[in-house]
Amino acid sequence: MKEWTREERYRYLKDPQELQELYARITKSEFRQTFHNQPVTGLLNDPNGFVWYDNSWHLFYQWCPWGAVHGLKYWYHIVSKDLVSWKNLGVCLLPDQGDGYDNKGAYSGSALPIDDKLYLYYTGNHRDTDWTRHAYTCLARLGTDGWPEKYPLPLFGSHPSYTEHQRDPKIIKLPGKERYYIILGAQTMDKRGCILVYSSMDLQHGWELAGELKVPGFEELGDMWECPSIEHIGGKDVLLFCPQHVRLTGRGESRNHNGYIIGDMDWDTLIFTPEGQFHVLDFGFDSYAAACANNIQDADKAILIAWMGLPDVFYPTDDEEWSGCLTLPRELTIRGRRLIQRPLPELKKLREEELPLEKNASGCYPLPKAVEVELDCRKGDVRLKLFTKEDGSGGMAVQYQDDTKVISVDRSGMHTRFNISEGESRERILEHDLVHLRIYIDHSSIEIFVNDGDAVFTSRVFPTGQERYLHIEGDVFLHMWTLKPAVREHFLV
Ligand code: FRU
Repeated sequence: MKEWTREERYRYLKDPQELQELYARITKSEFRQTFHNQPVTGLLNDPNGFVWYDNSWHLFYQWCPWGAVHGLKYWYHIVSKDLVSWKNLGVCLLPDQGDGYDNKGAYSGSALPIDDKLYLYYTGNHRDTDWTRHAYTCLARLGTDGWPEKYPLPLFGSHPSYTEHQRDPKIIKLPGKERYYIILGAQTMDKRGCILVYSSMDLQHGWELAGELKVPGFEELGDMWECPSIEHIGGKDVLLFCPQHVRLTGRGESRNHNGYIIGDMDWDTLIFTPEGQFHVLDFGFDSYAAACANNIQDADKAILIAWMGLPDVFYPTDDEEWSGCLTLPRELTIRGRRLIQRPLPELKKLREEELPLEKNASGCYPLPKAVEVELDCRKGDVRLKLFTKEDGSGGMAVQYQDDTKVISVDRSGMHTRFNISEGESRERILEHDLVHLRIYIDHSSIEIFVNDGDAVFTSRVFPTGQERYLHIEGDVFLHMWTLKPAVREHFLV
């Protein structure tokens, strides 16, 4: 694995041509996907600034151009009309080349449209020459020409009563309220994760700390909360965030998680009153920094996209000098005390051809590289093996045991194993019998939606040329469709 020096990681991109050779090389990788967003070169992490604006969906991703390394971060811009087909628009927010507020990265944030402008709130990651970190909350304005104009001064710097881990502004405009709010992920001096709430009557001026968000019962969950957001869905509030450096039962040595709490947010007292426990958002292995779209104009749902990856781990494509991709968009609703996550109905447009169900001599179906698998399940246990070899051996096991209602995903049978310490098997106890599975596979990723959004398992997977069959045991109806490419890979920087 390549060792990166600080100079290499934080090298400033001067000319897109510097990436041409890397782009030409990585686009030949067998793990590049066809309907997921992935980095044009280098590393993709968090989705940022997800919003409906100017008759399109806009999304940006944290991007480090040089390789599979967390170095100098830019916001890379992509757009879509329907959240299914996407196109690259190129780099948007650039970190400062000099000694400015974001000299070592334009870190994560969010966007809000006002009139015909889009306001981008982001974290300016500043490092002094002795590498001391400072976090600034910065603003840029995007006009309809697509080019951002950065405000020369940050809205505010880090608050001295907390450590320098203060980042990922989520801009919130509540219906009927004149005030704007920004919530930030932060860390207290005694190393507890928390959220800071700022407010102002103006988009640019007068931002002041309103206080630390109180979330009774959750004062000791992790040492830093990244990427917070508060969404109002179907009459409830949902606090989504990524508590760091905490172990959760059943998730191996994994220390970075993305989860949510349903409750009630009081913006006057800054108390979020939980109605239940902290739930993991995704039961798979690779999902983090989920972002919900702003300005969706529908009070009953939210639309979420996450980074299909994790901090502090390695992926097999790191050696090819690229890493990361985004999940498919999901529609969030609330049922009882849980979030329901369904693939957007529009994703049906990806379907190309329904496949004939012909088994080979070992009872396996050929599994295309970009495919949707749908299973209607009747009574009893179900055992699926995806990415097996021709004789049905190996692969990723998805098993449902009817007596315990446990569904599990185990990727230890794959030839290419990675991040083993995170645990190779994950499970969830279903509230009802298993009746339905919808699975999206795209070259090096798999998203498994259980019982119409009751649970999701999202994972990267790197099958070899031999691992391309599906074996099923159980009383099920099967449908499979090959899926069309929907994300164009233009070299646009
Ligand atoms: C989460 C995160 C954010 C930060 C960004 C930097 O993955 O660490 O907290 O803003 O990534 O790329």
